Amino acid sequence: MKPRDQEATGPLRDAHGRAITDLRVSVTDRCNFRCKYCMPAEGMPWLDRADVLSFEEIERLVRVLGGLGVTDVRLTGGEPLARREFPRLVAMLRGIETIRDLSLTTNGYLLERDAAALVDAGIDRVNVSIDSLARDRFHEVTRRDALPQVLRGLEAIAAHERVRPIKVNAVAMRDFTEDEVFRFCELARSSDYQVRFIEFMPLDGDRSWSADQVLTGAEIRELIETRHELVATPREPHATARVYRFAQGGGEIGFINPVSEPFCADCNRIRMTADGKLRTCLFSIRETDLREPLRAGATDAELDRVIRDAVWRKELKHRVNEPGFVAPPRTMSAIGG
Ligand code: 5AD
Ligand code: SF4
Repeated sequence: MKPRDQEATGPLRDAHGRAITDLRVSVTDRCNFRCKYCMPAEGMPWLDRADVLSFEEIERLVRVLGGLGVTDVRLTGGEPLARREFPRLVAMLRGIETIRDLSLTTNGYLLERDAAALVDAGIDRVNVSIDSLARDRFHEVTRRDALPQVLRGLEAIAAHERVRPIKVNAVAMRDFTEDEVFRFCELARSSDYQVRFIEFMPLDGDRSWSADQVLTGAEIRELIETRHELVATPREPHATARVYRFAQGGGEIGFINPVSEPFCADCNRIRMTADGKLRTCLFSIRETDLREPLRAGATDAELDRVIRDAVWRKELKHRVNEPGFVAPPRTMSAIGG
């Protein structure tokens, strides 16, 4: 049923008054890593290939969403570069005039191979996930001995000055990340990468998340401030990260605190899974199937209506910190971070 005061035209908006301009598209649920906070070591069931949207289908849906006010698209996975011919999709999406910002989140493993092709295809920005700067500890958390390969990938993309800013994302876990913090500070101080710590969220494949494993952004900041003075930078609208610069010397560090300081009130994003389900929150229990109407030949106007209805019902906020919280059936690699 269409809520009474839902707008039938104009940019996408939810019932809480938030304008939706940011879309994350997962292009595959598969991955060449098995990060502990994301996937189980073995036995992750994959989507059937027939259920995964083709590039042409993704392009159609992004075009429709672009017509509804989405301007920023981030491509995620699983691991997006693990999808065959991924740069071709980047080029296709680059051709959609309404999309102003086209970015990628990757684990970096195949970035050395693909950096030039991604730049040619028109990628604007890249985030690389790196949870440890020590090879053995990187291996421990990703279950792949791949840190040197990932760092080569990071350098390969950074060599392209058009692709900026480059962000390095580390999931922060108690009793692990404390020992990484100063290495990441040195990386931030010696490069132009913005290093960001992301609080561990209950989206892991092993379902072993507990609140006490979350190392909060505030705790990391306190640790850093034992050695370096940090200065808060102005917060950009809808930014998920609180960004600080080092008072002495260059470099920036960001904190993404979805657990300890939820930023839902300001959320402007929606997500699409590799099998074409629209999710209005990382933690959504309900999703809206776009693939079925798409494959049944829906017109743009029909897709518009399905999308507007789903977005209108976007969750007010996540309830990770509330009693009775239920984690969504999909875990991170099947949602798209
Ligand atoms: N909590 C927080 N971040 C996560 N990511 C994957 N799983 C989790 C989790 N349980 C991150 C990855 C990557 C992005 C796509 O999501 O490290 O940076
Ligand atoms: Fe793969 Fe990213 Fe999940 Fe790690 S966090 S297993 S790199 S999808």
